[in-house]
Amino acid sequence: MNIRRAQPQDLRAVVRIERASFADPWPASLLAWYLQRPDGLHFVAEEAEVLGFLLALREEGPLAGVHVHNLAVHPSHQGRGVGTALLQAAIGEARSRGACTVRLEVRTGNDKARRFYEQRGFRVVQVLPHYYEDGENAWAMELPLVRPAPQCCQEPADPGQ
Ligand SMILES: CC(C)(COP(=O)(O)OP(=O)(O)OC[C@H]1O[C@@H](n2cnc3c(N)ncnc32)[C@H](O)[C@@H]1OP(=O)(O)O)[C@@H](O)C(=O)NCCC(=O)NCCS
Repeated sequence: MNIRRAQPQDLRAVVRIERASFADPWPASLLAWYLQRPDGLHFVAEEAEVLGFLLALREEGPLAGVHVHNLAVHPSHQGRGVGTALLQAAIGEARSRGACTVRLEVRTGNDKARRFYEQRGFRVVQVLPHYYEDGENAWAMELPLVRPAPQCCQEPADPGQ
């Protein structure tokens, strides 16, 4: 299996996997918007064909992190380590860009995904009520990234002190 950066040309495969993975798939136009973002941390896993994808963006601000917006592996390739490899690629890229955390949301009904993330170091930090259009709540999950630089993740100094 090869992990590489996703490109706009991967749209057709990404749409196919999205539709096979979710009951409420994102529209192709939204997936295309992500794939065209030059600042995205977007990856695909492939063998003879694309098996799965991850879409993430860097957040702005002093406590900047990376936000995983979408991760899906085609159902016929789940349980083979594809999701783990995609997540590791995004976490590695987040570290190299100096991010302090990796964040994401999971439907509270998606126990499989929640366990998947917890077993990879993520923790639930918040419940987001009615986060999804159909009214379902989300778990907000976070993975802190330990960095050698001591200033990482510190609040900006209070000018009054
Ligand atoms: C959640 C999801 C991305 C995980 O992807 P995946 O490719 O199935 O994940 P992995 O194969 O890396 O890991 C899943 C399990 O398979 C096991 N596994 C890993 N490599 C394996 C291998 N080579 N052979 C067999 N099993 C393996 C892992 O141990 C893991 O089990 P664990 O979580 O108990 O540790 C995938 O299930 C999915 O696309 N779900 C639908 C969409 C979704 O819910 N996305 C998340 C929205 S937030």
